[in-house]
Amino acid sequence: MYQWSVPLYLLLIGSSVGQYEPTWESIDSRPLPEWFDQAKFGIFIHWGVFSVPSYGSEWFWWYWQGQKLPSYVKFMEQNYPPGFTYAKFAPQFRAEFFDPKEWVDIFASSGAKYIVLTTKHHEGFTLWGSKYSWMWNAVDVGPKRDLVDEIATALRAHSDLRLGLYHSLFEWFNPLYKADADKSFNTSVFPTTKTLPELFEIVNKYKPEVLWSDGDGDAPDSYWNSTGFLAWLYNESPVRDTVVTNDRWGCGTICKHGGYYTCSDRYNPGHLLKHKWENCMTIDKKSWGYRRDTNFSDFLTIEQLIASLVETVSCGGNLLLNVGATHDGHIVPIFEERLRQMGKWLKVNGEAIYNSSAWRVQNDTVTPGVWYTWNQKNAIYAIFLSWPADGYIVLSDPVVSSSKTQVVMLGYQSLSWESMKPTGLKVRLPQLAPGQMPCSWAWTLRLTGAV
Ligand SMILES: *[C@@H]1O[C@H](CO)[C@@H](O)[C@H](O)[C@H]1NC(C)=O
Ligand SMILES: *[C@@H]1O[C@H](CO)[C@@H](O)[C@H](O)[C@H]1NC(C)=O
Ligand SMILES: *[C@@H]1O[C@H](CO)[C@@H](O)[C@H](O)[C@H]1NC(C)=O
Ligand SMILES: *[C@@H]1O[C@H](CO)[C@@H](O)[C@H](O)[C@H]1NC(C)=O
Ligand SMILES: *[C@@H]1O[C@H](CO)[C@@H](O)[C@H](O)[C@H]1NC(C)=O
Repeated sequence: MYQWSVPLYLLLIGSSVGQYEPTWESIDSRPLPEWFDQAKFGIFIHWGVFSVPSYGSEWFWWYWQGQKLPSYVKFMEQNYPPGFTYAKFAPQFRAEFFDPKEWVDIFASSGAKYIVLTTKHHEGFTLWGSKYSWMWNAVDVGPKRDLVDEIATALRAHSDLRLGLYHSLFEWFNPLYKADADKSFNTSVFPTTKTLPELFEIVNKYKPEVLWSDGDGDAPDSYWNSTGFLAWLYNESPVRDTVVTNDRWGCGTICKHGGYYTCSDRYNPGHLLKHKWENCMTIDKKSWGYRRDTNFSDFLTIEQLIASLVETVSCGGNLLLNVGATHDGHIVPIFEERLRQMGKWLKVNGEAIYNSSAWRVQNDTVTPGVWYTWNQKNAIYAIFLSWPADGYIVLSDPVVSSSKTQVVMLGYQSLSWESMKPTGLKVRLPQLAPGQMPCSWAWTLRLTGAV
């Protein structure tokens, strides 16, 4: 009976403060705060010194001077004087047209529930005035503004979107990182003097509710002290109750440890996953950072983007849709248009997306392009990605009842249907002129009284 003699106050302390230990077993046991699964849709923003050359990709520096890819080397030779260094791009990162309120207006209009901003990409330049990034941050060089603070403040003042911060663990060319790497990561000078202090700094200062880690630099999580940091984040940080994180915390942790899974860039498995996951993808098919060398066919259409959202949500994921911002602080019109279109579609069909759950079947067994979601009030949602030419659609998986089942097209009205054998139903669609359609890109049928 000895165990029962532990004083009650010790048990209470044990169950609140410090409940997570710095081990993956303990970190992975934390339930994901509910808001994240309910949110379904977020916006990723890549912005940094790479937005100045805005050529090729946000990996510009590495492709030019690390890998020395011919197209990047040639771009520099043709457009910049000999001896030009990457650091010389930073003063040209001026953000002269940047209006955080305008950004927030665009983000809110998209129907997204959170944003994730690159506070520091692999180039190491911090968009906030970090104490740990001397003369390589947006307050000392370039905009001379704390961009993270301005976005966080505008977001909180003008929307109910949650703030997420992306942060790269490693930096391509940081000599401290390279020195550790040369010793096979048996020394941890870089994480203890740079990465971890920065992480504590952004969490304490900006209180993000998503911490999107990236760039392990092939070093193990023990080198980054990721479990130590996450135990602090979950036990003691100012956002310990609501913060979510991803799975990129060291070599081999992706799709395995941390908070929700990202697995790979543009991950969209097409089947249900047991663990919460996120599909991060880009409107510009080839780059996360804004680049000028695009043509029209490089941008995904709104039909493709809505299909990605619907497939992702049906399979239990969230969509994190990326835009790149320009060096002068703009979200260019093609990105703005896509985001506003997403919002227009979600205004009509959001009932099938936000707060929904994965159903027993993800996409229809017979009819291509039909994806299901489900909600607690027992409505099943069937979202069809193209309008059938023959005026009806077959849903083969729901089990219907002639006396109870009702079918409504969201933004329109109820529709008549007939049952199919052995299961399912055939729904007659109205003949609508484009102007009468409840929306233009994908349509939702809400089934009640069906299972
Ligand atoms: C680093 O540690 C590993 C494992 O402990 C060891 O095999 C390796 O020799 C060490 N490398 C250096 C450079 O000390
Ligand atoms: C790892 O992080 C934890 C929490 O911040 C800290 O207490 C611990 O000393 C760190 N370990 C190392 C080896 O730096
Ligand atoms: C657009 O770019 C792609 C490659 O990035 C190229 O294959 C295609 O031909 C280009 N289209 C036009 C119209 O220039
Ligand atoms: C989702 O559910 C939460 C918690 O019940 C609620 O606060 C929120 O308003 C819901 N969101 C939508 C879009 O219905
Ligand atoms: C359902 O989705 C999966 C994954 O995308 C696909 O392989 C399958 O063909 C789809 N089923 C139908 C009937 O289109």
